[in-house]
Amino acid sequence: MGKTVILDHPLIQHKITLLRDENTGTRDFRILVEEIAMLMGYEALRDLPTELVPVRTPVAEAMEPMLSGKKLAVVPILRAGLGMVDGILRLVPSAKVGHIGLYRDEVTHEPHEYYCKLPGGIEDRLVILPDPMLATGGSAIQAVDFIKEKGCNQIKFMCVIAAPEGLKALQKAHPDIEIYCGCLDDHLNEDAYIVPGLGDAGDRIFGTK
Ligand code: PRP
Ligand code: URA
Repeated sequence: MGKTVILDHPLIQHKITLLRDENTGTRDFRILVEEIAMLMGYEALRDLPTELVPVRTPVAEAMEPMLSGKKLAVVPILRAGLGMVDGILRLVPSAKVGHIGLYRDEVTHEPHEYYCKLPGGIEDRLVILPDPMLATGGSAIQAVDFIKEKGCNQIKFMCVIAAPEGLKALQKAHPDIEIYCGCLDDHLNEDAYIVPGLGDAGDRIFGTK
């Protein structure tokens, strides 16, 4: 089983509580999602490989670590995953960015794909797959299926809030990937919304309601 990390950092928890608040408006919601993504990225990328390189400081020459080799791609699940991209790119500005467009059918809750464009050489990249919400898990499972079909097997899925149902489904469907969650919530309601959750992440990021 791949690693699952529920991030319990107080800064992340504090910002998620602000996100949940129904009075938090679009502008603040966007800023918070980006900040949370950056904090989560810091944790999710802690195992990036480094190599020692020579550096001359004003005092001495030394061999010191720098990131080595690993090519990254950030592939948000549209729309809501877009809100997390800039936070991650602040940590790894040269990462390539792909997009997977999925929407959930309102009645069946099944994901439907409407767009996909991935960076070249995806099979050799470490893919960070952000989406704020992991509800039934259908969207994340389909996105991972798709990336794997393209030959990539190094995937870190990152969500702000997960439902236990979605987390279990994703772990079962893709036991090899790493999963990072800002918070594990209580359950899904009859409309497959996360409880207590934060509502519709895409609508809150883009102000569409
Ligand atoms: C939301 C969310 C996830 C999905 C999670 O997107 O951003 O992609 O639902 O639900 P699931 O785990 O049950 O699949 P939505 O389909 O509402 O599209 P949007 O981002 O365009 O609003
Ligand atoms: N998608 C969302 O945006 N929110 C939920 O609670 C579930 C799916």
